[in-house]
Amino acid sequence: MSANRPAAVVVLAAGEGTRMKSRTPKVLHEICGRSLVGHVVSAAQDLTPEQLIVVVGHARDLVEGHLSTAYEGVRTAFQAEQNGTGHAVRTALQELGSTPDGTVVVVCGDTPLLSVDTLRALTETHRTGGNAVTVLTAEVPDASGYGRIVRDGDSGAVTAIVEHKDATAAERAIREINSGVFAFDGQLLADALGKVRSDNSQGEEYLTDVLGILRESGHRVGASVAADHREILGINNRVQLAEARRLLNERLLERAMLAGVTVVDPASVQIDVTVTFEEDAVVHPATQLLGSTHLGEGSEVGPNSRLKDTKVGAGARLDNTVADSAEVGTGASVGPYAYLRPGTRLGTKAKAGTYVEMKNATIGEGTKVPHLSYVGDATIGDFTNIGAASVFVNYDGVNKHHTTIGSHCRTGSDNMFVAPVTLEDGVYTAAGSVITKNVPAGALAVARGQQRNIEGWVERKRPGSAAAQAAESASRKVADEN
Ligand code: UD1
Ligand code: CA
Repeated sequence: MSANRPAAVVVLAAGEGTRMKSRTPKVLHEICGRSLVGHVVSAAQDLTPEQLIVVVGHARDLVEGHLSTAYEGVRTAFQAEQNGTGHAVRTALQELGSTPDGTVVVVCGDTPLLSVDTLRALTETHRTGGNAVTVLTAEVPDASGYGRIVRDGDSGAVTAIVEHKDATAAERAIREINSGVFAFDGQLLADALGKVRSDNSQGEEYLTDVLGILRESGHRVGASVAADHREILGINNRVQLAEARRLLNERLLERAMLAGVTVVDPASVQIDVTVTFEEDAVVHPATQLLGSTHLGEGSEVGPNSRLKDTKVGAGARLDNTVADSAEVGTGASVGPYAYLRPGTRLGTKAKAGTYVEMKNATIGEGTKVPHLSYVGDATIGDFTNIGAASVFVNYDGVNKHHTTIGSHCRTGSDNMFVAPVTLEDGVYTAAGSVITKNVPAGALAVARGQQRNIEGWVERKRPGSAAAQAAESASRKVADEN
């Protein structure tokens, strides 16, 4: 394995990507929770190269900023003008200072589906073949736009790569294309780059010309054919972006299913590369699993749910739920129609029921908030029941305040808990209460207006109305029965 470790990987990401028609540089567009260049960089990191360098140019600050926050230890080289892929690699080698002694792998920043296995196969073919350069190729159904692989009629050896724009009609009929991924001998690459000219239709220094140069000076030029041509899909526009997302999503869900996750309808489920899961998790239709979301053993999510950075405990059930940075305990139940915002922590077998919103709230074991409630900035103990339609009034218009409710409490329906306020263990509250003062353990808190019935009001004030007639016949019935 270590014999196969490249001296350097160069990622080309300086181009603008005009065909995306976007303010965002092409390589920063995202699929499955990672930028396009991020997918390439992490596949490259998995090769454990001695050095990893990304060539940046267009929107340099944005791309460098993104790389430095998301990918530690990645170096960049600045290519001020995009004079071609050959020029880009030359810029990278200059930035590295000394010429890498060993294999240099070059990949494009816009091929997010490229797997580390394919990169390993390429470097392996390169090493065992004793090649000066090995190009990763693929047979594609539609080769238009790609550089064509020209092979010797007798030996089948690669003789050149001809860019689409520079190709003859016969060359354009070739369906084997250049993926834009190469393994080079570092020293020979550096020498050959010095000889690349820019007398082609685009007036650019083509990296692909290095192959012809090396071959002419008697070096071995090899090719490694990708097992699956879809892996080398280069993203140039948003149609290809959507296609790449679909393919990667499919690959990730397949991996999940083979690892023991039931995905009821893969076509309607979206998953990020960073999502993890345990056996017997079930994902129902129309569900998005994003970021660092983790599904515990036997948990069930969906339908119609979106979980971001959320930890779902074993056997928990989330139905029609949107959750962001929440933790759902073992066997807990959420929804249908619940919204768990950042900082929600549901204990074992706790419940956040129908039309319930929670934020920055710690809910103890077996505690239930079953219906139509908002719980914000709160700590609730174990085995407490919060009545329907309760609001934790946490905001006074300036500051947020905290509510604490103990264990084994029973709060009535339609309560307002005006924070800061504390209800100790074993407290009951009356329905319709507005709780503004602390409640000591075991007390019943009643905080609402007294009811007063004004007898005969309807017959006096609304004579002849349907309500008055109903009242009159009701009292006649009572009189008859007596
Ligand atoms: C390139 C290849 C083509 C191959 C195709 C595969 C060349 C000359 N052509 O064509 O044979 O089939 O990729 O997708 O290499 N870049 C820079 N600096 C530059 C120019 C490009 O960093 O000066 C970067 C781009 O950001 C991109 C990559 O290099 O990530 C490829 O450039 P692009 O213009 O997309 O090349 P293609 O025309 O697609
Ligand atoms: Ca391209």
